[in-house]
Amino acid sequence: MFMTVSTSEKQVTKPERSVIIETQNLSKHFEGLKAVDEVNFKINAGELVGIIGPNGAGKTTLFNLMTGFLKPTLGRIILDNKKNIAGSSPHKIANLGITRTFQLVRPFKLLNALENTTVPHIPKSKLARSSTLKNKATWSLITVDLAEKKNYPAFILPHGDLKRLDFARAMAVQPRVLLLDEPFAGLSVEESFRVERVIREANEKGMTIIIVEHKLKILMRLVERVLVLHQGQLIGEGTPKEIANNPEVITAYLGTEAFDFE
Ligand SMILES: Nc1ncnc2c1ncn2[C@@H]1O[C@H](COP(=O)(O)OP(=O)(O)OP(=O)(O)O)[C@@H](O)[C@H]1O
Ligand SMILES: [Mg+2]
Repeated sequence: MFMTVSTSEKQVTKPERSVIIETQNLSKHFEGLKAVDEVNFKINAGELVGIIGPNGAGKTTLFNLMTGFLKPTLGRIILDNKKNIAGSSPHKIANLGITRTFQLVRPFKLLNALENTTVPHIPKSKLARSSTLKNKATWSLITVDLAEKKNYPAFILPHGDLKRLDFARAMAVQPRVLLLDEPFAGLSVEESFRVERVIREANEKGMTIIIVEHKLKILMRLVERVLVLHQGQLIGEGTPKEIANNPEVITAYLGTEAFDFE
């Protein structure tokens, strides 16, 4: 079955998509703080979704829950409409095809770019033992435009390269779902265009991508749908245009003036 999907640029016809990941009442409390508070959303396979919200809204905590770095206080994370992965280890979740980048990049400084990409976050997996991992890592470095620096130790790479290296590490296992935590932070305009292209290409090949980002101009032109978190709660959901004109979102995050994302 097919449906028509409108984007800011053109009308395209895409196959109707199934839900790949869903949160149900997902919550994380730190002492009395509800960092993530009964969050419910569904992400379709192949979707490119943005998550926005002010500092401390719970965005990174949400990614930590979805990738097993934190166990939820309550709630479920359902993969493929059947498996609850909440509380599983990061390795197990990566093996199921969900990987992420980090807001603060922390490469192994003495290892080179290729080693940083192959040093697996899934050491017990078949993939890590496989001789094809190096090929996948090399492909991943090519994809993020870092192939020519594959032998450079991480400590000599500038911030923009390290952000793309983290991206390459997360992509090396060819995940089904990729979570990017502020992929554009600290990048120059030119580097941002490069990362934007990499994200678009990965998504065009079918990868489901969820991006947390404060750089809204880039995010709003890149994603097809936006979720808004505020004080741990989902306060808005819609197309970039709908979100930019949502009064509650404007008050909570975008400021009182109409947000111009064109
Ligand atoms: N391990 C932790 N222990 C206690 N509190 C935490 C912990 N991790 C996050 N928090 C708190 O949870 C809230 C949400 O933090 P989180 O890092 O998820 O926000 P964020 O939306 O990613 O913000 P930013 O845009 O600044 O990255 C904040 O108040 C933060 O201080
Ligand atoms: Mg964060």
